[in-house]
Amino acid sequence: MQKLTAVGPLIDLRSDTVTRPTPSMFDRMASAELGDDGRGDDPTVKELERVAAALLGKEAALFLPSGTMSNHVAILSHSFSRGEVIGEASSHIFRSEMGGLSLLAGLYPRPIPGRAGAMDLEELDAWLRPPGLTSHALGTAVVCMETTHSVGGAVLSLDHMRDVCTRSWQAGVPVHLDGARLFNAAIGLGVPASAIAAFADSATFCLSKGLSAPVGSVLAGSCSFIERARGFRKMLGGNLRQAGLLAACGLVALEESIERLADDHLNARRLADGLHRIDPHLVSPADVATNMVVVNVGRSAAGAEQWIRVLSDYGVLTTPASTDRLRLVVHRHVDVASIDRVLNVFAEIYLTRPATLFAV
Ligand SMILES: Cc1ncc(COP(=O)(O)O)c(C=O)c1O
Repeated sequence: MQKLTAVGPLIDLRSDTVTRPTPSMFDRMASAELGDDGRGDDPTVKELERVAAALLGKEAALFLPSGTMSNHVAILSHSFSRGEVIGEASSHIFRSEMGGLSLLAGLYPRPIPGRAGAMDLEELDAWLRPPGLTSHALGTAVVCMETTHSVGGAVLSLDHMRDVCTRSWQAGVPVHLDGARLFNAAIGLGVPASAIAAFADSATFCLSKGLSAPVGSVLAGSCSFIERARGFRKMLGGNLRQAGLLAACGLVALEESIERLADDHLNARRLADGLHRIDPHLVSPADVATNMVVVNVGRSAAGAEQWIRVLSDYGVLTTPASTDRLRLVVHRHVDVASIDRVLNVFAEIYLTRPATLFAV
């Protein structure tokens, strides 16, 4: 099919994990002071952990290779006995972490329904129990929240977080926050990251998503929690050696990339508004809270996978959010011109109505 919109360089909207290191990250790597982090003596890693703990308002922090390992280590470090892990059903720990909480920590998943990543509080009340085992029920080992939500970028309100953690703490259950995109949430709410992390005993964020570092995640919590987490990181094979090379990029990310995330939010809104103008059923702009846009293709004759194929023929890469929804993630390599090109692609698809997507 002859395309009206020129196919230019790829526009990769699959995730903000595709961001490449910035020039200042390469510079900082070259001059980073290094040690053996497995022995606790890499000064650059220590500095990153100190800065991250302060940003989150926690006593201590630990550098880890990935967000998934951070969540596994957090859950292992919180759970002293068998029990359930409660979280909203569509959260990353249940959907995308390969069952690690059961296979590694011996815990039972208790996914509960919710909306835009916020768990239903009545369901939480129904399932939350003090930790441990009684003659008739398995207690709750840990409650997990996720902000921003990895499916659509929604931000948990502080009221919701307060409600979840008050209930959990009253039951004596620790709370872990998967804040892979915590700084997007902070910008979305207009509060410091520490104001969000205050509603959890432990919180993790990723350096390797919108913040553009190549590798890494940080887990923060109390000194004793981080001491245990250090042991579990080693158990999982997550001890790195001259990790200061990576931590150097993490420090640059915290110094230079946080405020820039606001541009991604603006561009995501431009994308959502433009798509809404092409077809109001495609996007609900009011649902766009941070750097993700969920596109509903349910009114067409095709599912998400077919749309993904057609869009990739135009050089636009996306992922499914469900069988009839696409997830478009905006990041540092997606500027206003890229957004406008994506909008032109959708406009052309709507104009030409290819038979693979629209029944004739
Ligand atoms: C909410 C959330 N938690 C955890 C992760 C896992 O991070 P990683 O890919 O570094 O393991 C992701 C990854 O996209 C995520 O979106």
